[in-house]
Parts: sequence; structure tokens; C-alpha cells
Amino acid sequence: MNPLKTIIVGGGHRSLIYASLAEIKPEKMQIVGIVDPDPIRRKYISERFNIASEHCFESVEELVKVPRFADAAINGTMDNIHVKTTIPLLEYGLDVLLEKPFAVNEKEARELVAAANKYGRKVMICFVLRYAPFYRKIKEELHKGTIGDIINIQLSEYVSYHHMSTSHVRGKWNNYEKCHASMLLAKCSHDMDIMMWLMGEDKPVAVSSFGCNKQFVLGNAPENAGTRCMVDCPLVDECLYSAKRLYIDHPDRWSFYVWADLEDRGIDDIEEKIKLLKTDSPYGICAYKSDNNVVDHQSVLVNFQSGATGTHNMVGGASKGLRKLHITGTKGEIYGNLEDGKVTISMIDPRPEHEFSETVIDVSVKDDSHGGGDLLLAEDFVDYVVNDEMSISCTSIQDSLRGHLAVFLADESRENGGQVLPVIL
Ligand SMILES: NC(=O)c1ccc[n+]([C@@H]2O[C@H](COP(=O)([O-])OP(=O)(O)OC[C@H]3O[C@@H](n4cnc5c(N)ncnc54)[C@H](O)[C@@H]3O)[C@@H](O)[C@H]2O)c1
Repeated sequence: MNPLKTIIVGGGHRSLIYASLAEIKPEKMQIVGIVDPDPIRRKYISERFNIASEHCFESVEELVKVPRFADAAINGTMDNIHVKTTIPLLEYGLDVLLEKPFAVNEKEARELVAAANKYGRKVMICFVLRYAPFYRKIKEELHKGTIGDIINIQLSEYVSYHHMSTSHVRGKWNNYEKCHASMLLAKCSHDMDIMMWLMGEDKPVAVSSFGCNKQFVLGNAPENAGTRCMVDCPLVDECLYSAKRLYIDHPDRWSFYVWADLEDRGIDDIEEKIKLLKTDSPYGICAYKSDNNVVDHQSVLVNFQSGATGTHNMVGGASKGLRKLHITGTKGEIYGNLEDGKVTISMIDPRPEHEFSETVIDVSVKDDSHGGGDLLLAEDFVDYVVNDEMSISCTSIQDSLRGHLAVFLADESRENGGQVLPVIL
């Protein structure tokens, strides 16, 4: 098999994770082009993957003017430009691996599905959790009918306090007007996709949701709190959300977000980092005084066609990041925490001297984020495009629509006091 000739569109941190497949398994993928308006990213990527200068572009519009020289693209641009950058790639004749969320509202989600159908191209969405052995094992057991018919599915995501601060209080996904994605869409489109995937043929029929920003509001700022932790705050060494404690005492945590500007310039110097937090960086602002306007917790309730019910709870500001799952069927249950790397199957067992019988399956992984999913997904994209083979985890855009619609409706419901909204597929 020849490697899949692939163009990176949006050469940021996510694209590079998938593109690293070209370095690990060059027989599968070859990176042959880069589209990014940022000259530093373009230069770095063209050098790293040895890309010809005539295949480096500032925009998708420039790319599609030249004769096609690749078969696929990895689109890792930011959420609100996924649709507008992907449609021209499809028209140009490329199959696309596209980051989630694939769209930021229902109208553009349907527009992109229609474009993929119209141009007959494959669009696969980076729902990496489907590839994590934890969820994959659960899907296989449900598929085999191990626990019978599903009665109820419960998912929870606990977003750690440092992740919450970095992404949704101070960072790139903290303000709806800036990023155009709600917290549920940015953080939990994964979980809503997992719910729909595990429910299989059982379709969602109604959604309701509640949630708000309870913690990170001005009224909760400690007395005497300053506006920039390391400039004018007497609580800089005590506050749980002090920028000094989160980012200077842990300079490597979330570095690709917090120190993106410095890393792009090849700078790794603690004094420069302190200077940044004291001056321009949004990560240096008081967590209670930033311009965030997304929720910090949200609960979603879904009713399915069969009468089964599902819930997803997203809770930001937890002591550690954790994803939990518990599914109850007519014969037993499957449950576990992604981070523990164990799936427990507990079966009803009415035999004398028994109550239930339990099996614990080890699904632990070591060397990849998202429970082992990132590189498996990139490899699966290659198989999907080249061999037309869809694995059990493969997420075509058509297949991703349900989860996205459930998120859009949950946000609409939350904004309308929990109103029950029908799902129209
Ligand atoms: N699958 C996951 O689990 C997961 C995890 C984190 C982020 N994401 C998603 O991945 C996407 C990228 O996130 P990131 O953190 O890698 O972002 P990033 O900021 O590191 O990368 C985005 C890149 O796009 C470039 N860009 C901007 N406008 C462009 C345009 N018009 N055309 C081409 N390139 C353009 C930027 O210069 C930048 O290099 C987001 O949609 C995010 O929600 C997914």
C-alpha cells in the first residue's frame, strides 16, 4: 500500500498528534502539504515533514487554486472555522479527518453533512474516545448482547480544576462570543457521541438540560482579590486558582496552551513565563474576573425511542479529571472509569448462594492521550480512506450528527429553563 498523501490544514497541537502517524508508520501516511496562516507554524511543519515550499499555503482558498497533489487532509483548525474550511477541501476532492466538534450549530452541521454527501467524500470526525480500549470493550460487549437490552446509560465527566481554569475559565474555550462553542460542545461532544454510539440503533427522541456558571463569577472572588494574580493579588500563594500556583509551580502542565506563543518562538524560560502572566496572558487574570461566560457544570437528560434513558453530567473544577460510565441492561451492568483502565461486568445471578457474578477486564493503556485513542484513530482514517474499511469505532460525519444534535438541543434547553426538546434526525 502507498502511504496516504495528506495535507495538514491548521498546523496546531491536535493536527500534529495525528500527523505523527507519518513519522511512526511512514508506510501508512505521508504529509505533503501545510495550510496555516501562521508563518511560524508553517515553517516548523514544512521543516519537520520535509514539505516542498510550493505546497505551503496561508489559506484553503490558496490551496485549492493549484492542481490537487494529495488524497486527504487533516483539519485541526479551531471549532468555528471547521465547516468553512472543510467544504472547499471536499469540493477539491480530498477526504478529510476533521476535529470535533465538526460544527458549532445545527445549521452548519447539516450543511457539512450535505456537502460530504454531495461531493461523495469521506469525512471522519476525531472522536478519539471511541478508540480508547475502555469504550471499545464496552461497545463490543453491548454489541454481543452481554447485558441484554439497555435500560439506562449514565456518563459523567469531571473536569479537573487546572483543566477547567486553562480551557474554560481563562483560555480558548472560555467565552462563547470568542470561540462560538458552548462548554458542552467543546468538552462533552465526545461524551454525547459515546452515548449515541453505545446506544446503537436506539435513537434519541427528546433532550432536556440544566446548568450554569456557579463558581467562576465576580461575586465569588475572595475579598481583596486582585485582577492579575501575580501583579496585584495578596492571595497569590493561597488561592486554589492562583495563576502562579497553576502555571509557574507547574510550568509543564497544559504548556501547549498556556505557553503557546513562547513555544512557537522556541523560548522555554521561567522568567519569560512570569513576565507573560504579569502582562498580556489571559492565563494571568483572576479566575473570578476573567471574561468567561460558559457554564462550569451541566446535566443532560436524554429519552430514547425504546424508552431507555441516558444522562450525562459535566462537572468542572474537580480535584482530578475523570470519566465515569455505568450502563444497566436487562441481564446485568457494565461500568467503570476510563482513567482506571478497568471495565466491570456484573451479571444478575440468581443461583443458590449467589446474588451477582462479576468480571473485571483490564483495558489499561500507557502511551497515548485519550485512553489510547489518538493514533489508533489516525490509522483507522487511513484504512477508511484507502481500503473503505470501517472499524467498530470509525466515526463518519453522518454517524456523528446524532451526538452533535443532542448537544445543540441540550444547550437550547438549558437556556430555556430545561425545556424538553424533540430530536429531529
Ligand atoms: N479530539 C480531541 O479530543 C480534541 C482535544 C483538544 C482540542 N480539539 C479540537 O481540535 C481543534 C484544534 O485545537 P488545537 O488546540 O490543536 O488548536 P491550535 O490553536 O493549536 O491549532 C489551530 C491551528 O489552526 C491555524 N489556523 C487558524 N486559522 C486557520 C485557517 N483559516 N486555515 C488554516 N489554519 C488556520 C492556527 O494558526 C493554528 O496553527 C479544535 O477544534 C479543538 O476543539 C480536539
